[in-house]
Amino acid sequence: MKTIFSGIQPSGTITLGNYIGAMKQFVELQKEYNCYFCVVDQHAITVPQDKMELRKNIRSLAALYLASGIDPDKSTLFIQSEVPAHAQAGWMLQCVSYIGELERMTQFKDKSEGKEAVSAGLLTYPPLMAADILLYGADLVPVGEDQKQHLELTRDLAERFNRKYNDIFTVPDVRIPEVGARVMSLQEPTKKMSKSDANKKAFITLLDEPKQIEKKIKSAVTDSDGIVKYDKENKPGVSNLLSIYSILEGTSIEELEKKYDGKGYGEFKGDLAKVVIDTIKPIQDRYYELIESTELDDILDKGAEKANFTASKMVNKMEKAMGLGRKARKK
Ligand code: AQP
Repeated sequence: MKTIFSGIQPSGTITLGNYIGAMKQFVELQKEYNCYFCVVDQHAITVPQDKMELRKNIRSLAALYLASGIDPDKSTLFIQSEVPAHAQAGWMLQCVSYIGELERMTQFKDKSEGKEAVSAGLLTYPPLMAADILLYGADLVPVGEDQKQHLELTRDLAERFNRKYNDIFTVPDVRIPEVGARVMSLQEPTKKMSKSDANKKAFITLLDEPKQIEKKIKSAVTDSDGIVKYDKENKPGVSNLLSIYSILEGTSIEELEKKYDGKGYGEFKGDLAKVVIDTIKPIQDRYYELIESTELDDILDKGAEKANFTASKMVNKMEKAMGLGRKARKK
């Protein structure tokens, strides 16, 4: 059975973008793969976080994984900082990375642009992400399009390590969904939807109330044409809403264009709000059962135990390949 690894940062409550681009795929993939799903909290601290808020978001994200359909009997769900091998392997892979290639990462450029104090962690985030993946021998990494560049770097680092030290890593493939790989901001539809966007109207979270969802969709930026038609270049706002509608309802964009032919944006947006609310409602119901439960802690304890077992074996192999520490004593 092939292995999958993927992670989500607890840098806020996950958005419809994270759900469509990542989580929704995970639920499907766990039927066929040995899956590791991770709350990558060490990635979240590459930018400043409020500690109480971060704690809350970590637990909340773990509950949302389960509420969205991750089955702990099929998949391993765990928190990155509870598996020390990630930081250990991340350090070793930093030493295999070049500053130049890290500085070329678009996400680093975007997140550091115009900032006075940028953490070193923001620059060295990709080798930690590579460690997350390579520790489990992942064959496949399902992500949204924004992570493609980091995945390419992961492949380069794995190949470089294998060549330079010892052939221990599986070089993973990336899996990007055909539709929904890049859900856009509701307020600036040429920018991707992000959970840490300062403008709360730009994204819908999986924990938004129905009224908030309606309001956010009603105020989503469109255009003055009044025609419900997919045209990414000239009508990015409407195209984004059409994509969300199509993916969540499983109806093709052409069918939706026909359905709303001659109708205004008001009706289209009203119906889309219903589709989003209907998708999110069962997830929220399960979320509120789980969030304060000991069931959630039991699942995370078991997940950390399983992940620690696999990841520490790979760290030992990495240290051996690089010549760290002492030779194991003969017993
Ligand atoms: N807008 C998006 N459309 C489709 N997929 C998306 N993903 C993120 N945004 C979109 C995918 O969600 C997974 C988890 O992402 P992450 O939390 O690890 O980091 P991110 O990509 O930086 O996501 P955000 O929401 O933009 O977080 P912040 O605001 O903290 O930077 C990944 O598979 C990602 O591709």
